[in-house]
Amino acid sequence: MCGIMGYAGGSPASGIIIEGLARQEYRGYDSAGIALRSDGKIISAKIVGRVSELADKVRELPSKCLESASGIGHTRWATHGGVTETNAHPHESADEMVVLVHNGIIENSTEIKDELESGGIIFSTQTDTEAACQLLAVLYGQCGGDALEAMHRLTERLTGAFALVIMFRDRPGEIWCARRGSPLVTAWDGSASYCASDPTALLSYTHDLCFLEEDEMARLSPDGLKFYGFDGNARGKKSIRLNWDSVMADKGHYEHFMRKEMGEQPDVLRLTVDAHTIVTNVALEKSISLPKGLMKKIRRVQFVACGTSYYATLVARDIMESLDGDIEIRVETASEYRYRNVRGGGDTLAVFVSQSGETADTLAAARIARAKGTHCIAITNVRGSTIDREVEHTILSLAGPEIGVAATKTFMGQISLLALLVMHLLKERGTLSASDEARLISGLRSMPALQQSVLEKEREIKALADKYCGSKGFFFIGRRECVPLTMEGALKMKEIAYLPSEAYAAGEMKHGPIAMLDEQLTVVALVPDTDLREKTLSNVAECRARKAPTLMLASDGDDGARACADDIIFIPRTEPELFPFIGVIPLQLLAYHTAKALGRDIDMPRNLAKSVTVE
Ligand code: M6R
Repeated sequence: MCGIMGYAGGSPASGIIIEGLARQEYRGYDSAGIALRSDGKIISAKIVGRVSELADKVRELPSKCLESASGIGHTRWATHGGVTETNAHPHESADEMVVLVHNGIIENSTEIKDELESGGIIFSTQTDTEAACQLLAVLYGQCGGDALEAMHRLTERLTGAFALVIMFRDRPGEIWCARRGSPLVTAWDGSASYCASDPTALLSYTHDLCFLEEDEMARLSPDGLKFYGFDGNARGKKSIRLNWDSVMADKGHYEHFMRKEMGEQPDVLRLTVDAHTIVTNVALEKSISLPKGLMKKIRRVQFVACGTSYYATLVARDIMESLDGDIEIRVETASEYRYRNVRGGGDTLAVFVSQSGETADTLAAARIARAKGTHCIAITNVRGSTIDREVEHTILSLAGPEIGVAATKTFMGQISLLALLVMHLLKERGTLSASDEARLISGLRSMPALQQSVLEKEREIKALADKYCGSKGFFFIGRRECVPLTMEGALKMKEIAYLPSEAYAAGEMKHGPIAMLDEQLTVVALVPDTDLREKTLSNVAECRARKAPTLMLASDGDDGARACADDIIFIPRTEPELFPFIGVIPLQLLAYHTAKALGRDIDMPRNLAKSVTVE
């Protein structure tokens, strides 16, 4: 949730840390802070607000601080304690020996705090983090200044999830880290060491990254990285090369990352299809290598994810179901899967989908499935992420770094891979016909050009956003392959425009929600020209009869649909199962331009953070 940056090298740390925080600001952005060295002390600067305001404050620090060759920084998404300067990280122990930043939740912080307060230590914040900071200072003293031993004892005491990055006052040039449950990546570029929550913060320095494992610690210094288990034993570690370009994480000439990332979707799809198909055949076996014959034994397939990634799995379910009605498919949000008694075992294949690979609920769900002996696959955008390291097989999505909090191109990366995965699995199972395979692959191959033509309708969609942005809310309706998109369209509208938005299977409207309709609630109806066109148009007519303004997505050439809505966006025809690949783009553009018309903070919407690493 929060973004962490640490540096120990030979250059002034402040600029490196501010830049690293700015790159990770999408992880949390209610407050920010930095700690630097000056004359044997550690000096912190904190603000409530954005990293740019922290940069202004840092410029006013004494020149010695600006020369500091090591430091740590943090951008916060508050969990414990209000959004105040005092609660912003870094936190400092009462004896000024330890300064640290934290991502995660220390579950036993109250118990630790009570214990330390009864020993006379005065706490000054409402955060859970301060308990770890004060405790580490006490342990460090008790260990006679042995940092490794103090870290070992600290990690023994803490429960919950944490990525901790620490400076000790009497250890200049050293930074210590510990990870349990919250991501942390480290790197050494030959003269300086770095750590961050997110690899994109380190790509300007090196592409060779060392991801901390669960229950692992690291010592950073200009001479390199040292790794230890929580037991204090030293460990070797190989770096992983991440072939992302730092330019990919730049906004370029776009006003918002979200807009840039929406525009990248045809490339993401093209790249994915090129990487995993040969002419009209799926070639995913190269990247998946499931045990031979496994699919013949699999009786059920489960798809598990959160948020937009969950909607991507609904698309996968629909494609799979349309091709093979016999296989038992279950789709579940990870936050529910983890607490339900879901059947697993060797005859079950579970596919976990997570852009970040760090979503706490998805990781917990995957651990539960593995414990039941279920075969687990992950689809993630981040090589080296926790889910990548914890499941049997990972298929990397090729979307590249996504910075906008609202997922767009990673959704495209996910549904592209999921469609290919589904075809691969059914082929292995013997239930995918050659004609369906060729039909869908050629549909996917021709899709990027069609998507581009929809992106070119931006002016038209912007005009509609301007017209409807005053609505008190939206209803997104559709049937079958459109239903996942109604959810994604509504989620985008909620998260970036903050407008109440419901997603409903069109046939369900009359069972209750239709009562809400009036002239101020806009219905967005998804009506591709399929066998369900007439039925959906009837549902649209029911909405219009209740005076709801109606905006329709219809297939090119469907002139008959024109009279059935107040406004209409025509989009290219596709294979029915592939409608989500094209239909999602106007919905993203509609949410984007509605949010823009309402003056929302599109890349960093209120109350949200890019990856949800706490439960
Ligand atoms: O990193 P993940 O794919 O696991 O994240 C899941 C959700 O948190 C994410 O899709 C969220 O819903 C986005 N804000 C959607 O735009």
